[in-house]
Amino acid sequence: MPVILGIAGSVRARSYNASLLRAIVELAPDDCRVEIASIAGIPLYDGDLEESEGVPPVAAALKDRIAAADGLLLVTPEYNNSLPGTFKNAIDWLTRPSSDIPRVFGGRAIALAGATPGPGGTRLSQAAWLTVLRVLGTRPFFGRVLFVSDAAKVFDAEGRLTDERVRDQAQKFIAGFAAFVKA
Ligand code: FNR
Repeated sequence: MPVILGIAGSVRARSYNASLLRAIVELAPDDCRVEIASIAGIPLYDGDLEESEGVPPVAAALKDRIAAADGLLLVTPEYNNSLPGTFKNAIDWLTRPSSDIPRVFGGRAIALAGATPGPGGTRLSQAAWLTVLRVLGTRPFFGRVLFVSDAAKVFDAEGRLTDERVRDQAQKFIAGFAAFVKA
């Protein structure tokens, strides 16, 4: 069964993006499995640290999980009309050493989704990610989009996705990505 590894780009306990990822896990079709990975604990990128100690074990382990997965789903917040530096920092570690990029990202099916309490649904963040997906040689899924706006209204206090319209969008999105991963 194909495995899609989902990573939310926020470590906040009540993160809307982590909540969206959990909803996607639930809504995924039966013939694929979405697993959750985290960027928690990945330090700021530091070339001196890399030189002296190599890639931090937490980042090396995440690289291996991505390499073992059939698809990668980035569930991204939007910060200042772009991608969050915190999430990009984590991904940057995963691209070290650069000789390992083909193993981890090359030809990897990858999709973007995101949630925000604002009206824009993370459109600008997701657009900003595209240049990163391109330079890493990934195989991006463009078949559907998932821009979740007004997050405070579509998730309940426990972080459950309660809005039927958004649930339907999320279900179609993950079904489309799962089919793309298998193709
Ligand atoms: C934000 N937020 C935000 N939202 C948005 O839709 N467009 C934006 O440009 C920004 N800019 C922004 C900058 C910074 C520094 C922060 C901290 C926040 C709000 C953001 O969408 C909100 O905090 C989300 O709740 C973050 O995602 P998680 O942590 O809930 O997953």
